[in-house]
Amino acid sequence: MNYENILFQVTDGVAVITLNRPKAWNALCTRLNTELEDALLAAEQDPEVRVVILTGGDKVFAAGADLKEMAQATPMEAARTSALAQRINNFLEQMSVPVIAAVSGLALGGGCELALACDFRVVAEDAQFGLPEVGLGILPGAGGTQRLAALAGAARAFEMVLLGRRISGAAAAQAGLATCAVEPGQVMAAALEMAAALKKNPAYSMALAKRAIVSGQTLGAGAGKLMERELFALTFANPDQAEGMRAFAEKRRPSFQNLR
Ligand code: CAA
Repeated sequence: MNYENILFQVTDGVAVITLNRPKAWNALCTRLNTELEDALLAAEQDPEVRVVILTGGDKVFAAGADLKEMAQATPMEAARTSALAQRINNFLEQMSVPVIAAVSGLALGGGCELALACDFRVVAEDAQFGLPEVGLGILPGAGGTQRLAALAGAARAFEMVLLGRRISGAAAAQAGLATCAVEPGQVMAAALEMAAALKKNPAYSMALAKRAIVSGQTLGAGAGKLMERELFALTFANPDQAEGMRAFAEKRRPSFQNLR
């Protein structure tokens, strides 16, 4: 697929996807979302890719769904828009590689929801997270009501969704919405540093550990624990389990194959 609204680059096992629609504050139009879905699938299918970083660049992460495209939508078209956004955000959770959102500037509406679906959020202290949908006569439709409440609690979700209150990157880190907040201008460097740290761990056990966490979040803790048990057993089918434990016994650094 020819990308017009995103940039996609893989370097040393790190796939960087940049939302790139600067004239519209990276608003998530259907075309952009279609390209994003295609790029995420390509990253998942590339065995060389170990980590994905999703960013909007230095100025803005994304100002939400494309309001011009959405304004005249029928209920059925709105359902399709929501389904595409939810499919992307669910896929981010289901990917076998960790995904880092590198957030500078505004992450509003669908942009905030996209960031919330990533595994890590490395954010600028002065970034702004907000869900202004209710004020527009709609509501967050990309899974945001659920992910926000799960990450930061229902009280925060009511505040941000019903009152439309924005939260800074620094406050988001304190509230558990962001993994860490860094100085503006340092976001991409911090995200790349995190990617380098993630790459040191073996791909398969990270993939299954991610699946166990996400299973608990989406299916409930009981099902999550059952999944955890099965996934734990499955790690013993991958050569990196034997290597990790042998390296420990032999007091040396492991040399992982990173098959996933
Ligand atoms: N959709 C479409 N176009 C958008 C947009 C969006 N979400 N956000 C900004 N733009 C466009 C503007 O229409 C404008 O285009 P033109 O030059 O053609 O007029 C251009 O980007 C620049 O925007 P502004 O002139 O508004 O610039 P500003 O500096 O005054 O404000 C802003 C920037 C704060 C991002 C403001 O544009 C804004 O509030 N945008 C909308 C944010 C929003 O409400 N997002 C939620 C969308 S709903 C959603 O996301 C639903 C869902 O969950 C699926």
